[in-house]
Amino acid sequence: MKVGVIGSGAMGSRIAKNFIDASHKVYVFNRTKEKAAELIRSGANWSDSPTALAEASDIVFTVLTDDHASESIWLDPTLGLVLGLDSSKVAVECSTISYDWSLRPASKLKEYRYLEAPLVGSRPQAESKQLAMLIAGDEKDYEAVKPLLLDTAAKTPFIGSHGKAIALKLVINSLFGIQVAAFAELYTALTHSGFEEEQIMKLLPNLPVTSPIMQFTLNQFAERQFSPLFPIELIEKDFGYAQQFVKSAGVSANLTSETKSVFHSAIKAGLGDQNISALLHHYQKGAQND
Ligand SMILES: NC(=O)c1ccc[n+]([C@@H]2O[C@H](COP(=O)([O-])OP(=O)(O)OC[C@H]3O[C@@H](n4cnc5c(N)ncnc54)[C@H](OP(=O)(O)O)[C@@H]3O)[C@@H](O)[C@H]2O)c1
Repeated sequence: MKVGVIGSGAMGSRIAKNFIDASHKVYVFNRTKEKAAELIRSGANWSDSPTALAEASDIVFTVLTDDHASESIWLDPTLGLVLGLDSSKVAVECSTISYDWSLRPASKLKEYRYLEAPLVGSRPQAESKQLAMLIAGDEKDYEAVKPLLLDTAAKTPFIGSHGKAIALKLVINSLFGIQVAAFAELYTALTHSGFEEEQIMKLLPNLPVTSPIMQFTLNQFAERQFSPLFPIELIEKDFGYAQQFVKSAGVSANLTSETKSVFHSAIKAGLGDQNISALLHHYQKGAQND
């Protein structure tokens, strides 16, 4: 199959490599061409624009930072992705975007076949094809592309109509981020109160109330694993979208708002490109949140 992947960042490059390894003809486009060099050396074909990539491909994946990046790739008036699509092609948005943008304003995109497929998992899961892709859109389009999705993801549950996959993704990331933020604050409180890290490591992981995320985070804290898997700047962006989503559902967004401000203050302290676990470092340095 001819597979296009727009975005050669941490996740997009790994997804594109999986398709190359599965013997598909892969086309890539990235805003910064140099970052696609490794993929091109591995056999990917460079496309000069999102339009050219869509014209060359049967299916197109976008793996981009945020709404702004996604919108500019999809809708650029001269080089945008939509200009190269037709009814034979499916476009799959893997970026974590806002609920509003995931609904694709009908006036702009209604004539195209597209699926939402936000990613659950990080770089190691992308590399080992263990990602989950949460799928929303038209179920017939999903059935048509499912075999291909399984060349880069282990699980591809169909969630429902547009908006539902991204809503779930924002909730999953919020549940993750809230736990990490709470844990960074409370772990630091324990160490400042005379607990040894070794003692914490012995006591906390095996309690009935300890979640898998707490266990995972505790290991990252213990090993000072702060190099980026899931960078703070991406989770902070997700909390902005989660906050909007929660409010649009008519629910008070106190907790998502507060957690966003914790990540925002870590970015201001220069930790934006560090892993989410670097919040521990932030608290240990005496974090002052907004
Ligand atoms: N990293 C993770 O663990 C993880 C896990 C699950 C989901 N996600 C989500 O997956 C998406 C991609 O994440 P990532 O880790 O691959 O991010 P990344 O490494 O920062 O890559 C971001 C990509 O977006 C492109 N981009 C950014 N702004 C752009 C703009 N204005 N116009 C065009 N292209 C633009 C970048 O192009 P350049 O190379 O030119 O900068 C790059 O290709 C994000 O939505 C993220 O939230 C990430």
